[in-house]
Amino acid sequence: MKSQKTVLRIAIFSGLPEYLASAVRSGHLRIAQEQGAVEINLIDLRDFAEGSYRAIDDEPYGGGGGMVLKVEPVRRALDACGAFGDREEKKKPWVVLPTPKGKRLKQEDFERLSKKKEIIFLCSRYKGIDERIREWVDEECSIGDYVIGGGETAALVMMEGIVRLLEGVVGDKESVQTDSFTCGLLSAPTYTRPEEFMGKRVPEVLLSGHHEEIRRWKRKQALALTLARRPDILAKLPLDDEDRKLLSEVLGE
Ligand code: ADE
Repeated sequence: MKSQKTVLRIAIFSGLPEYLASAVRSGHLRIAQEQGAVEINLIDLRDFAEGSYRAIDDEPYGGGGGMVLKVEPVRRALDACGAFGDREEKKKPWVVLPTPKGKRLKQEDFERLSKKKEIIFLCSRYKGIDERIREWVDEECSIGDYVIGGGETAALVMMEGIVRLLEGVVGDKESVQTDSFTCGLLSAPTYTRPEEFMGKRVPEVLLSGHHEEIRRWKRKQALALTLARRPDILAKLPLDDEDRKLLSEVLGE
């Protein structure tokens, strides 16, 4: 019988698919594909370009330096992936453009995107894209306030963030639920064997086996870390009585 599992289909449009090839065969991306949770296709934009050089970029009109991603290969590749035509709007792939001009990504964006059926990441490595491409883009995303060499690395960041949220990809559900940001706070420090290394001991409470004390310790550590590093997110978080008590302990220490 055929599996009923929903599969997220991802296509990455790039002029540099070899850059992405080994990354999509590693780690969670590999596991998720093996489990049938996601299908990832690398689409070489050059396959949709014309001429003996199969150029996908050209100089900008009006000068200004750099190269601009051309409109025709992108249109053809989108067409081949069913972005146009009479498919119902909600069944069309969701086209994401990684760009420093986009909205800065947050964990909640990964959660939203992980519920899509089909996503196309349109990567450009150039000065930018021909502006006429923008009308086929559903969402422009930035991974941070800096410029990197191209959209491929940003698309990888996004895929890593999205795919690990898919059912069954990360074996331990608790691990995903206690991630930094997912529970609203930066996550507590973690330790593994050995219990002591060069005189540095693992905090005794973690070795104690007292689940309630461990939970309280982790919550307090998470609150303390978030207060020190990201007071902006702590300020927006609804705190309960226990959180307020733990925070007053932190401030009193
Ligand atoms: N391409 C270049 N810089 C980028 C950024 N910060 N986010 C997304 N895509 C990019």
